[in-house]
Amino acid sequence: MKIAMIGSGYVGLVSGACFADFGHSVVCVDKAVAKIEALERGEIPIYEPGLDALVAENVKAGRLSFTTELAGAVAAADMVFIAVGTPSRRGDGHADLSYVYAAAREIALAVTGFTVVVTKSTVPVGTGDEVERIIRETNPAADVAVVSNPEFLREGAAIGDFKKPDRIVVGLEDERAREPMVEVYRPLYLNASPIVFTSRRSSELIKYAANAFLAMKITFINEIADLCEEVGADVQAVSRGIGLDNRIGSKFLHAGPGYGGSCFPKDTLALVKTAQDHGSAVRLIETTVAINDQRKRAMARKVIAACGGDARGKVVAVLGLTFKPRTDDMREAPSLSIIQALQDAGAKVVAHDPVGMEAAKPLLDDAVSYAESPYEAAAGADALVLVTEWDQFRALDFARLKAAMRAPVLVDLRNVYSPDEVARHGFTYEGVGRAA
Ligand code: UGA
Repeated sequence: MKIAMIGSGYVGLVSGACFADFGHSVVCVDKAVAKIEALERGEIPIYEPGLDALVAENVKAGRLSFTTELAGAVAAADMVFIAVGTPSRRGDGHADLSYVYAAAREIALAVTGFTVVVTKSTVPVGTGDEVERIIRETNPAADVAVVSNPEFLREGAAIGDFKKPDRIVVGLEDERAREPMVEVYRPLYLNASPIVFTSRRSSELIKYAANAFLAMKITFINEIADLCEEVGADVQAVSRGIGLDNRIGSKFLHAGPGYGGSCFPKDTLALVKTAQDHGSAVRLIETTVAINDQRKRAMARKVIAACGGDARGKVVAVLGLTFKPRTDDMREAPSLSIIQALQDAGAKVVAHDPVGMEAAKPLLDDAVSYAESPYEAAAGADALVLVTEWDQFRALDFARLKAAMRAPVLVDLRNVYSPDEVARHGFTYEGVGRAA
């Protein structure tokens, strides 16, 4: 298969490199000249484990290349994937589809022969219809089938998720697209990954419903965690106890400081808007969004309580800034609201993150200072707050921390440590959903 991948951001690059690895011939397209030049030099603009080696291998094998010229790549392609961004539109929370529609217009003018146009970007229900309308209006002679094929990649685990998916979802209205879609995913298909064929609108909704459900599941366990603190129960035990029921499932039941990232906050909001536009309401998701927003600042109150109820003049060391480990992505990271709230309460914040500090600096107040290690961050601190569960923070040397800190207090917002173990080192421990 000859593939043109429009948009060489996170999804486009990972998908393009993986399709190339399956043996297809892939051209990744992007308007950003600097990005394409960097990729041609072998520099990967995002942090994703394994991606640099995968890109390098496939470039070397002649299966993967990069260009800023959309027309040439599309003209030569059997399949064109749209993987451009769909950020939240400022002001109203709707997904901003201007990049998707602009790509559709350019694709319309460049296609030759029958071409399958696949939307991989996360797009609201009905976007496939609009992409098809735009293509037909722009070039009535274009022979295309427009397909929805949402991605379910997690940052930090994207290559594994692409190559061993729980399922592949394909929404199509034109049967001619079925065979090429099977062909492009053949290695996975042979590996028994299920392919769900459905209508285009159902496929578009599956993506939002999946993310909204996961966001709701996290929010559910976060609320149960709050209840655990009140009633003297341990959310880790509750989570395990309910998760072993196959109907519930053990994943995404880890209580923490609230979900963040580029997907859940944006997609839950967009689903709420879509429902409202259709005179409907997804009230569980509306509530999920509200609870999660409040939760981040509530975590700062937890830290202040651990500092004795008053943060003024206190030094708080924050470990982990990115929205989750193994990424440098700071979008909607809980650390942003938590740090802001701590500063508002008069605390001085010293932060450390193994990868995300450069990305974090422009987003955080100038008064935040940065440390090169957890121990440097802890020097003179009144509390140590673990916000992101990087592996580097899973085996901290408590004796060394205690010697460095002004007061030995650990607020573990990811429940990485066992309270007893930390207490044995003479620390005051505060987790999430664990009664003191
Ligand atoms: C998420 C989905 O997991 C992917 O399937 C989807 O493809 C992607 O969004 C997307 O729409 O593109 P991602 O945002 O990379 O992936 O990150 P997750 O691993 O899902 O974590 C999201 C947030 O939930 C993080 O802030 C994480 O810390 C939090 N989380 C996750 C919890 O607080 N508890 C959990 O048990 C799991």
